[in-house]
Amino acid sequence: MSDKFDVTVIGGGPAGYVCAIRASQLGLKTACIEARGTLGGTCLNIGCIPSKSLLNLSESFHQAQDFSKIGIETGEIKLNLPKMMKNKEKAVTILTKGVEFLFKKNKINYIKGIGSLVDKNKISITDNQGIKKTIESKNIIISTGSEATPLPGIEFDEKQILSSTGALSIEKVPSKMLIIGAGYIGLEMGSVWSRLGSEVHVIEYLDHVTPGLDKEISNEFMKILKKQKINFHLNTKVEKISKNNNGVVVKTVDNQDKKNIYEGDVVLISVGRKPYTKNLNLEKVGIVCDEKGRIKVNKKFQTSIKNIFAVGDVINGPMLAHKAEEEGIAVAELIAGQAGHVNYDLIPGVIYTSPEVAYVGKTEEELKKNSIKYKVGKFPFIANSRAKAVDKPEGFVKILADDKTDKVLGVHIIGPHAGEMIAEMSVAMEFGASSEDIARTCHAHPTFSEAIKEAALSVEKRQIHS
Ligand code: NAI
Repeated sequence: MSDKFDVTVIGGGPAGYVCAIRASQLGLKTACIEARGTLGGTCLNIGCIPSKSLLNLSESFHQAQDFSKIGIETGEIKLNLPKMMKNKEKAVTILTKGVEFLFKKNKINYIKGIGSLVDKNKISITDNQGIKKTIESKNIIISTGSEATPLPGIEFDEKQILSSTGALSIEKVPSKMLIIGAGYIGLEMGSVWSRLGSEVHVIEYLDHVTPGLDKEISNEFMKILKKQKINFHLNTKVEKISKNNNGVVVKTVDNQDKKNIYEGDVVLISVGRKPYTKNLNLEKVGIVCDEKGRIKVNKKFQTSIKNIFAVGDVINGPMLAHKAEEEGIAVAELIAGQAGHVNYDLIPGVIYTSPEVAYVGKTEEELKKNSIKYKVGKFPFIANSRAKAVDKPEGFVKILADDKTDKVLGVHIIGPHAGEMIAEMSVAMEFGASSEDIARTCHAHPTFSEAIKEAALSVEKRQIHS
């Protein structure tokens, strides 16, 4: 006889594991099927967590080289890359094991193997020995995530032609690293390897970096990264990538039809990700996908089969772990008869470079496109006392508020700890704050977040410190 569950989640990443925990909290008998052997999905195993670990470690290495300038005398600063990688792996292990502990605590049946839909209530699971079993479930949630998109005709070998996975585990610092795509992954990994000593060249198809970001922030961001000696080649399309004895050769053509050849030890292809639905048997059970391979869902995350749901990177929307988590919780609550909900207007984004970039709400370009009249308040970190005291003066805060109602519509920060500071504005915006509400809220001194208050004051041109 097969096992029977109220909820079975296929995929144990941020969408899936969070959904399983919430479903179990709500009294539903829950299983989670995961093929990787560890929980946490791309984010914990080969994405957010190892990259943030390397960003932090590489920044420490970089800062250590300037210690003598600030009065700390040390010996010769040397990189021990294998040790750094071990530290990164330690962070991953602690967190993936932590999720396993949470599964035990919440009495979730963790099934290791590849899940495949048999019909609307049955899933077949193949473990790593090839042994199959079938389980039954009233509700099924697909949260199988996404995978890196290669360029047409090019395969990742993860040695010379890298996806983000390979870029997190390079064994020797490449003397020259080529990066295709100036998005989140390209710029975060470019920062890591540049700090560790690589000459980094980023090749980008568009005329600016990080498409979708507020343009003013994007321009400032590129300026700062250029100062950090990251090289940018914009308006440039990749025509061919080949390997030779020494590394890789990338042939490009720019928007003036000028051809170029770039050589490097390795190339990272970071041109986006695509939904991962392999092995699921979607067609057989009648689940419909859109033209980009994303599973189609309604507002309640139901696929074309009513008791099969999908959340996270496999559906529409930004491929961000926190968006996936929100959906995981919402779908569990909806199944339990509660009012699960995700506010897609207020999904923050963070790029963990130095300085960090963070945003929530609308960009200036979006407001213009939708003919929404707005006011702008801005404040530079160079005029913020904490930023000056700790010598982190780069960047600014920008607040966009509705011209008539003063409601905050968007906040964009490039600067120290931007990723932490944006949470204040997410909360404020969830409560429908006006820029005046922020301006009249007492912020501790001296803190970076005073720059937010000053930007809010600057919406009505009454900032104090600039
Ligand atoms: P992305 O969509 O952020 O950026 C891809 C870039 O590649 C774009 O600038 C695009 O114009 C460019 N591009 C596309 N085709 C190209 C070509 N043939 N030649 C040159 N340039 C080309 O994708 P990315 O960086 O791969 O990230 C994938 C996903 O992972 C994103 O959805 C991102 O949100 C997520 N992510 C989030 C992170 C965070 O929250 N900090 C960190 C890393 C990834």
